[in-house]
Amino acid sequence: MKTQILSNTPENINTAARLLACGALVAIPTETVYGLAADALNGSAVAKIFEAKGRPADNPLIVHVAEFGDIERFKLVREIPEAAVKLAKTFWPGPLTMIMKKGDVIPDEVSAGLDTVAIRLPSHPSARAIISAANTPLAAPSANLSGSPSPTSAQHVINDMDGRIDAVFDGGDCSVGVESTVITLAEGTPRLLRPGRVTLEQLRNVLGEVALDSAVLNKLKEGQKASSPGMKYKHYAPKANVVLLKCGDEAFIDYVNRCGGRGVAALCCDEDVEALNVKHISLGKRNDYEAHAHRLFDSLRRIDGYGDIVTVYTRLPSTEGVGLAVYNRLIRAAGFEVIDLEKS
Ligand code: TXA
Ligand code: MG
Repeated sequence: MKTQILSNTPENINTAARLLACGALVAIPTETVYGLAADALNGSAVAKIFEAKGRPADNPLIVHVAEFGDIERFKLVREIPEAAVKLAKTFWPGPLTMIMKKGDVIPDEVSAGLDTVAIRLPSHPSARAIISAANTPLAAPSANLSGSPSPTSAQHVINDMDGRIDAVFDGGDCSVGVESTVITLAEGTPRLLRPGRVTLEQLRNVLGEVALDSAVLNKLKEGQKASSPGMKYKHYAPKANVVLLKCGDEAFIDYVNRCGGRGVAALCCDEDVEALNVKHISLGKRNDYEAHAHRLFDSLRRIDGYGDIVTVYTRLPSTEGVGLAVYNRLIRAAGFEVIDLEKS
């Protein structure tokens, strides 16, 4: 299949929408990461997403809408909980996904057999325009091959998906850089399943009590069921091994310089750059967690782009604010292994 690249023009919004309405697969920009979209109400179109990504069939997809009213218009959920209305008022359009009891129109391919559905109203203008013009909600996972870092530019999508999908709409680089925050409202106390740009602290400010799912920070135990099936898979990993170091700033530089040489790189902060004598990519200033989130996936892909990196060292991130989203992605990329230099 030849993959068309659609530049950001009003005509191409319509081209993308027409393709989607006919059951094609089109990668679209969102403020978080690029999504691989299909008509969410067309089960056979959605099935092609799983094939193109090599995604396990038991991992459900997020349904994207252009307006809050679309949830009712298309009867996507059984009922809209009060908490969803409150969160939507504060964070939509934006990088927040809410899980609710699903409506009958949701094909099994989208919900992967669960009785819930994840809904998101993105803020990216091209995403909203394409969903509106397609006149149907769009199911869209991140537009990467399953397991690799999510794409934050059209070029990342092309690197993974060229020849596997109908088109890519190039809307420039994604501003947030990590996937949306996922919260479930489908059972009792609201629970954070995946951290993102909308932080746990912000959610608690609106709802009061919000639980943190144990899989956000920890590896699932043998036989433990994942609340969010995506969390059980190895994820976000570049080809190089990611090694997380728990240590102070000087200890980080000393350790990495001592390990240095061919095949070694550091994912670091601006303040480290001068003292490091190995290949490195900076995620931004030390306490600028938003910058770290913004650059994370692009940096992981660039490390593989060097071609000769076997191991990449980075610090164990903070779990505060948007730091939690970076922590959650890096701990998975590292297969939950952390070297604690403070102990040794
Ligand atoms: O920012 C984002 O959320 C991007 C853009 C394209 O919107 N999408 C994205 O989708 O990251 P994906 O499929 O890569 O991640 C969706 C996550 C997965 O971990 C999946 O298991 C979880 O959400 N999920 C989806 N539906 C669910 C449901 N009904 N119950 C629990 N978890 C669900
Ligand atoms: Mg993904």
